[in-house]
Amino acid sequence: MADVAFIRSQLTTHPDFPKKGIVFLDIFPLLRNPIAFETTITNFLYHLTSHTIPRSTNGKVDVVVGLDARGFLFGPIIAMRLGAAFVPVRKKGKLPGQTVSVTYEKEYGADVFEMQADAVQKGQTVIVVDDLIATGGSAKAAGELIKQQGASVLEYLFIIELTALKGSSHLDAPTYSIIQSD
Ligand code: ADE
Repeated sequence: MADVAFIRSQLTTHPDFPKKGIVFLDIFPLLRNPIAFETTITNFLYHLTSHTIPRSTNGKVDVVVGLDARGFLFGPIIAMRLGAAFVPVRKKGKLPGQTVSVTYEKEYGADVFEMQADAVQKGQTVIVVDDLIATGGSAKAAGELIKQQGASVLEYLFIIELTALKGSSHLDAPTYSIIQSD
């Protein structure tokens, strides 16, 4: 689709960043172009309102969860357009008040994700948003936090999916990505 080609054309690639062997896909140029940013949000909204939300929920999304840090750029706008709450999942030690936490594996060692304990309620329906899915470790950890609270993930949304890493195979709900890259 034309919108996907347009969004893709705004991304830049950076070989050997942040370390040798990684081709880093940078989404920040997309935000420099307000039409491209709007097109990205509209692509997500079109997808969410026309295809995916299981009929059992009557299409209702209660909460959009965004992942630290680039999920914070897209999640709140999607939430506002859906009339849903936005809730951040952050790296350990950043959120005040009572939190729930989960440990997950990254390329080098473990990391901890936290969510405010009163932010997601039992029975709520949630979508999880981030800019990119690689191995899926952080999205899986966020899904575990959401389930710990008695809520359910309807779908995981990403601008970019690195398909060769098969991250979506580790998730317990469908994945939608605007752009797929090897
Ligand atoms: N996170 C993990 N792999 C990445 C990549 N290739 N580009 C951008 N962000 C990433």
